[in-house]
Amino acid sequence: MRELLVWEQNWLRQCGWSSEQIAALSVSNDQTPVEYLTGRARFIDLILQVNRQVLIPRVETEQLIELVKQAVWQSGTTINSIVEVGTGSGAIAIALARALPSVTIVATDISEGALSCARANVHHYFLDERIKLLWADLLIHSQLPPADNYFLVANLPYIPTRDYQKLDTCVREYEPRLALDGGADGFEVIRHLLKQVAPLENKPLGIFLEVDPSHSLDFVRDYSQYQWQKVTDEFGRGRFLVGTRIDKIDANHNE
Ligand SMILES: C[S@@+](CC[C@H](N)C(=O)[O-])C[C@H]1O[C@@H](n2cnc3c(N)ncnc32)[C@H](O)[C@@H]1O
Repeated sequence: MRELLVWEQNWLRQCGWSSEQIAALSVSNDQTPVEYLTGRARFIDLILQVNRQVLIPRVETEQLIELVKQAVWQSGTTINSIVEVGTGSGAIAIALARALPSVTIVATDISEGALSCARANVHHYFLDERIKLLWADLLIHSQLPPADNYFLVANLPYIPTRDYQKLDTCVREYEPRLALDGGADGFEVIRHLLKQVAPLENKPLGIFLEVDPSHSLDFVRDYSQYQWQKVTDEFGRGRFLVGTRIDKIDANHNE
């Protein structure tokens, strides 16, 4: 039998479920996350369409939006594009496009299913002109902004494979593995992304990553063109990794 939490009952009600339907679900064995049952999920002030091809956007990721927004504002008018890798439902790209009206976004995903969900959400929020959605294994070099005045943002899979097996059933059995499993040490996809960035001439000015707070982040030392800083979430866990291009820090100091 499934015991529905209060917020789950409220969400079902808000999405038009009747008391009878909610009562029937609570005595069933169905463990499907309520967001997949309703086809909708909340992210900041957005209501996004979701399905089992995409990760249900997490509340932790809302802080990533704040970090990027602050960094864009602090950069003055320099940042006019953002590249988001692994867009899933489009949550990050849409939230950033709405918060930063002068910024255009290129968002990629390796899952066609995720891209079609993101496309529906981008369209719903009238952002088709400002968010370009592309299939890619991480970056597409030809689609990067020609100048270096852009940020790279990614919430890529970061759960080590051995921990993936231990995830709650409602996550492991319902959410896409492609969105969660980050390989042997959890950093395979993120490392691959940084390897793609390293040789670029037009490297992003800043890189903003969501990561697994319980694992060592020593691997970023190999990417010494950036100064790396761990940013904690509201529970004091190092959930974000922010890279700032060293040459830009030095240039600012010399001005
Ligand atoms: C953790 S989910 C994040 C989804 C969304 N950005 C969010 O924060 O809710 C990771 C996403 O990365 C995508 N992904 C995994 N490997 C990828 C790759 N090599 N290239 C592009 N996208 C990838 C998955 O399909 C999934 O949509």
